Amino acid sequence: MTSIEPVVLYEKQDGIAYITLNRPRALNAYNIQMRDELFEVLGAIIDDPDAGAVILKAAGEKAFCAGADLTEFLTAPAPVFARQARFARDIWKRFLSVPQPVIAAMHGYVLGSGIEMSLCCDIRLCTDDARFGLPEPGLGIIPAAGGSQTLPRTIGMASALEVLMSGRWLTAVEAYRMKLVNRIVPRENLLQEAETIARKILSFSPSAVRAAKQAVWRGMDLPLAEGLELEKRLSALTAEIAL
Ligand code: COA
Repeated sequence: MTSIEPVVLYEKQDGIAYITLNRPRALNAYNIQMRDELFEVLGAIIDDPDAGAVILKAAGEKAFCAGADLTEFLTAPAPVFARQARFARDIWKRFLSVPQPVIAAMHGYVLGSGIEMSLCCDIRLCTDDARFGLPEPGLGIIPAAGGSQTLPRTIGMASALEVLMSGRWLTAVEAYRMKLVNRIVPRENLLQEAETIARKILSFSPSAVRAAKQAVWRGMDLPLAEGLELEKRLSALTAEIAL
């Protein structure tokens, strides 16, 4: 059910854009309202030269995001309308087109689209109480927020296949060992740790940081020779801007 309360909060402070998933009573389950609000917020961030880094976090004690909203999932519109809606608002493409570095700060349950959202980010931090899972196979579906593509690109094919097909949930330590998260931090330090990374990034040249992000993300989809060409172009462009 949609509400008039925003389910995505946005604020910007000292060059850091903060996005907060804000449906704590429903464990920040991803619903249509959240999709629409995220779409708007990401658009604003993309166009904002004063936002040098982004932190994606979630409200409440228990979860970063418990996956797709199962109440909406069960009452989904006819597939043709669902497809139209998805094309009209390609949130995942927009997520991946954010030029600034995005840091995911995750706690508690990180399920389904919660994991997938974090896979659209560049750096992933989690607390020691984080639990990761893709419940989709048990629901008779597959991840539809890019996870089948972004997960193997992040943790490798063998681990991705295991997580995608077995439905096995991971502890924070297992997620770290699989390279699903960069770092595990104590709960009370989560935001502070994300901000420390963001501030460090802000101290660098924005064009160099953006070029590095682009080189890695775009390069992942290219054969090595083309990736090296891309790097050469981006490197020349960055050097030109630095002069
Ligand atoms: N969609 C909609 N509501 C959800 C939700 C989801 N994916 N996940 C949790 N909620 C709601 C619950 O319905 C409950 O609402 P209520 O208080 O009005 O009854 C509230 O969030 C708290 O969840 P609850 O199940 O009571 O917490 P828990 O600690 O006992 O269990 C989970 C936590 C994450 C294990 C459990 O909520 C769960 O399995 N959620 C579904 C996960 C899922 O399959 N996601 C879809 C991925 S495609």
